[in-house]
Amino acid sequence: MIGLFDRIARPLLRVLAPEDAHALTLHALKFAPKRSFADDARLGLRVFGLNFKNPIGIAAGFDKNAEVPDALLALGFGFVEVGTVTPLPQAGNPRPRVFRLNADEGVINRLGFNSAGATAVLARLAARARAGGIVGVNIGANRDSNDRAGDYVRLIETLAPVASYVTVNISSPNTPGLRDLQQASALDDLLARIVARRDRVVPHAGPTPVLLKIAPDLSLNDLDDVVGIARTRHVDGMIVGNTTITRPAGLRDQVTAKQAGGLSGRPLFALATRMLAETYVRVEGAFPLIGVGGIDSGDAALAKIRAGADLVQLYSGLVYRGLGLLAEIKAVLLRALEREGVERFGELVGMDAAAVTAEEWPN
Ligand SMILES: Cc1cc2nc3c(=O)[nH]c(=O)nc-3n(C[C@H](O)[C@H](O)[C@H](O)COP(=O)(O)O)c2cc1C
Repeated sequence: MIGLFDRIARPLLRVLAPEDAHALTLHALKFAPKRSFADDARLGLRVFGLNFKNPIGIAAGFDKNAEVPDALLALGFGFVEVGTVTPLPQAGNPRPRVFRLNADEGVINRLGFNSAGATAVLARLAARARAGGIVGVNIGANRDSNDRAGDYVRLIETLAPVASYVTVNISSPNTPGLRDLQQASALDDLLARIVARRDRVVPHAGPTPVLLKIAPDLSLNDLDDVVGIARTRHVDGMIVGNTTITRPAGLRDQVTAKQAGGLSGRPLFALATRMLAETYVRVEGAFPLIGVGGIDSGDAALAKIRAGADLVQLYSGLVYRGLGLLAEIKAVLLRALEREGVERFGELVGMDAAAVTAEEWPN
């Protein structure tokens, strides 16, 4: 069924402008069957106190407004991260603002947090609250807000009751100045306030894990600070990472590469995996990591786990590989368990982290 849909839909979607293709995909998913599925039990794992059927999630940005989380779970994702959600609705940047680098299997976007706003997302998630499955909510500040830290604090209070976890996104390159929140003093204040507010709402919202999503463009000195603060403020995990504003050497589509925005997909893999390993060695097991950036095969997903990820997420790979990618990743992960003679992925997490950090810096 998925294979058929993929074969028919993908060539059609490719001829549309990326954002129109995306809108059509979301629309189709609204009518997709929402039967739950069973995964091989060996793919299951417990992370952040949550039980995942499998370690493969769909990254933030695909379902920004929580329109199709249950359809995505039914397709076989172990978890769905909706958002980024901003407090007030906002339109984002003018179109066109998403570009495919077909020859590189990359994507550049400068959407700029187009969001239906917290009230709309809250209503949708509340309506499916009893459906189960792991649905995280990624939160961000409004572009015109004069109290960005306050936006995050209000969002965690509003959305924690309907979120399996909340991701603090301070790493989008498309809201001017947002990434400055990764600077040490701003980040320390922000995380202190967010975690305190989360703690205050535990009695009615439950113990919602708070994750921090970082940019792959941080310097290693900045990463030292960010991980140190994340540890002292007791965040529950980190996501490494968002899109990059760099343009790796060797991109074939040099014309599209000049578009402003964040690059994702295959050209991001080496940098994002390096930053994941660098994060893993600094976290020293204090909390789990989600690895994201450029996963386009089962081997790429396995490399993320070996570099330090307990869970992985993908987005751009689906554009080029289709939904068959999900089944391929599951098959490769199961084969890896057999090959390595281990029962759980936990035993593979971070195996290669030290080796990855010793490699030459990817360019
Ligand atoms: C079109 C598009 C929109 C995105 N929107 C968001 C977003 O709203 N919030 C966020 O945290 N990340 C967003 N991302 C980043 C992804 O979640 C992910 O971190 C990044 O694309 C790297 O993964 P990939 O190479 O598998 O795509 C977006 C990515 C793309 C391609």
